[in-house]
Formats: sequence, C-alpha cells, structure tokens
Amino acid sequence: MRAAITATGHYVPPDVYPNAYFERNLDTTDAWIQSRTGIAERRFAATGATSDLIVPAAQRCLEGRGISPAAVDCVIVATMTPDRLCPSTAAIVQRKLGAVNAWGFDLAAACSGFVYGLVVATKMIESGAARSVLLCGADRMSSVVDAQDRATAVLFGDGAGVVLVEAADDESLGILDHVCHMDGEGETALHIPAGGSAQPASQHSVTHRQHYVVQDGPAVFRAAVVGMAEVTQEILKRNDLQQQDIAWLVPHQANRRIIEAVAKRLGVGLERVVLNLDRYGNTVAATIPIGLSEWNDAGRFAPGDRIVLSAFGAGFTAGSVYLRWAMKRP
Ligand code: UT7
Repeated sequence: MRAAITATGHYVPPDVYPNAYFERNLDTTDAWIQSRTGIAERRFAATGATSDLIVPAAQRCLEGRGISPAAVDCVIVATMTPDRLCPSTAAIVQRKLGAVNAWGFDLAAACSGFVYGLVVATKMIESGAARSVLLCGADRMSSVVDAQDRATAVLFGDGAGVVLVEAADDESLGILDHVCHMDGEGETALHIPAGGSAQPASQHSVTHRQHYVVQDGPAVFRAAVVGMAEVTQEILKRNDLQQQDIAWLVPHQANRRIIEAVAKRLGVGLERVVLNLDRYGNTVAATIPIGLSEWNDAGRFAPGDRIVLSAFGAGFTAGSVYLRWAMKRP
C-alpha cells in the first residue's frame, strides 16, 4: 500500500513582528537581518501553547478532507516546544480536537521533525497499522528564544502546519522514498542547555538564562548547507532523478542563504523552490508543512508533480522525502 498526503492546513498567529520591532529593542538593523537571513517579518503568539497553534491548522486540514476528528487513527506532533515535558502535546491536541479514536505521540527532531514524522506516518499507512495519520509540525519558538540575544531573537517565529496521511488512491503517486541522517556530534551547536534531565530547572539555570535556545550560527550554517545538499542529492540519485524532473523543492526555512546554496548545488532554480521564510522566519518543525499547505491552497502543486522535501536541524538531524503530489488542485 502506498501512502499519500491527502489534506493540508496551517495556522500562524495574527501578530506580525517586522524587523523594525527588533531595531527598537536590540542592537540590530532591518538591513542586517534581511541580508544575512532573508527574513522580513515573523509571527509571535501573544498567548497559548503549541497545541493552540496546531488545533486551528488541524481543523482546516480535516475540513479540507471532509472528515471529522473522530476518523483520525493517530496524531503525531513534531515539535521542540511541547506544551509541557509531560504529557505529550499529541495527547493535548487529541483532546482539544476531539480526535477521540486516535492514539499518538510527540516526535523530537527539531527542524527535521516534520520530515522524520512523515517517514513514520508513511510506514504506518504502508504497514496497515493506521488508516489516517494526522501529522502536525508546530513550534511556539517565542517560548524558548531569548529576546535579549540578537543572534537568535530575530531568526525564529511561531506557527503550525498539518497534513493528513492516508492510503493513496493511485499507487504511482504519494510518498515514494526517504533518506534520513543524524550526527549527534552536533549536540551543543544548537541546543537548550537546561530544563531536561541533564540539567533540571533551578534558580541557577533561570538566573543564567539557560532555558533559551543557544546556537553557534556559523557552525550550524556550514553543517546545514552540506547536510541538506547531501540528503537531497542522495534521494535524487537513488530515484534516478535529474534536477529538471523536480517540480518543487520544499526546503526547511532557516536562512535564505542556506536555501540558495543548496538549490545551487542541486542546480534547481529558485522559481521551483518553496520560499516563505521572509514572512514567517524559522518556525522549526512547521516550516515545511506551512509551505506545503500554502502552495496547495494557492493551487501551485499539480497532481503528479515530483516534489522533494529537505530539512536540517538540531541534533544534527537531516532528512529528505521524495513524493509525487496526490491531491487535486483546490
Ligand atoms: O533551523 C535550524 C538550523 N539553524 C540554522 O540553519 C541557522 C544557521 N545559521 C545562520 O543562519 C547564520 O549563521 C545566522 C543568521 C544565525 C548568523 O549569520 P552569520 O552571517 O553566520 O553571522 P555571524 O554569526 O558570523 O555573525 C557576524 C556578525 C557578528 O559580529 P562581529 O563579531 O563580526 O562583529 C555578530 O555579532 O554579525 C553580528 N550579528 C548581528 N548583527 C546585527 C549577529 N546577529 C546580529 C544581528 N544584528 N541580529
């Protein structure tokens, strides 16, 4: 049995924070942020948790497919900003959504979370373990970003993207292959030092601002260009694909310069690259499903389009999925 994405939905909070907001609060400029990252604005949620970003995205996804939450077999939430360490955000989403017949779990792979989750959802459908998997990629990064650190504060945003994965009607379409890598040597290049079992929350950890994201930007940048290009080249080679066969490349949105470097290495023109980083910043596990949902809503994917998703993130983790678009234009 072949698995396919059969519905999409996304949600971003309404409050827009342009680069000018940071010019007022930090030693930075719109020109620096735009030229070094490609980001013009992002959204931050005023209230609520990651599950509150997911629920409206999931409702749109299910409404688009015309099924009720009760028809979902499994909820997977890819996130690095769970509502709480325990229980899983998937359990909270299940309750808020009313997906009363679903089981589910969270998946931790930071920016590669959606791609890893799509691999898991695909295998569940292919094996017959589930008939419908609601795969959510969501992060409320404003809850873990240090507003006083200009090196990270300007990079991230809040958002959620959701897809439904079910059996494909047409065996030639749907999710065809994946390549996933991991290199745990990257542990501290991008991490949140405290709050887990290695360093539980304490007065010291709060005073020393250790519950925020810490990143060695240039190290992650170099690793991201190489890592994302590697998984993408590997998947093209394995499937005998030339760059001209690819209708759309859907890369994780961390930095426009990373995306441009990867596209150049692959020989894919930017007109075939999904780009929305300028409007949302890096929404971590949400970047790829928000891109899929926006492009699908706009009718930019044609049935049968060969699409490659590629991600790189903390861990280090990297992953690529090759699929042929199985949905009709809206
Ligand atoms: O999504 C998960 C994976 N994450 C990523 O892929 C992110 C990867 N890294 C990056 O995107 C880039 O490394 C950054 C955008 C984070 C930084 O860009 P960069 O060109 O690598 O800058 P840098 O860190 O080498 O810093 C260059 C200069 C430094 O000043 P000095 O030491 O040259 O005087 C920084 O202090 O830019 C300074 N700087 C800033 N200046 C103005 C750093 N952040 C800012 C800022 N505004 N917001």
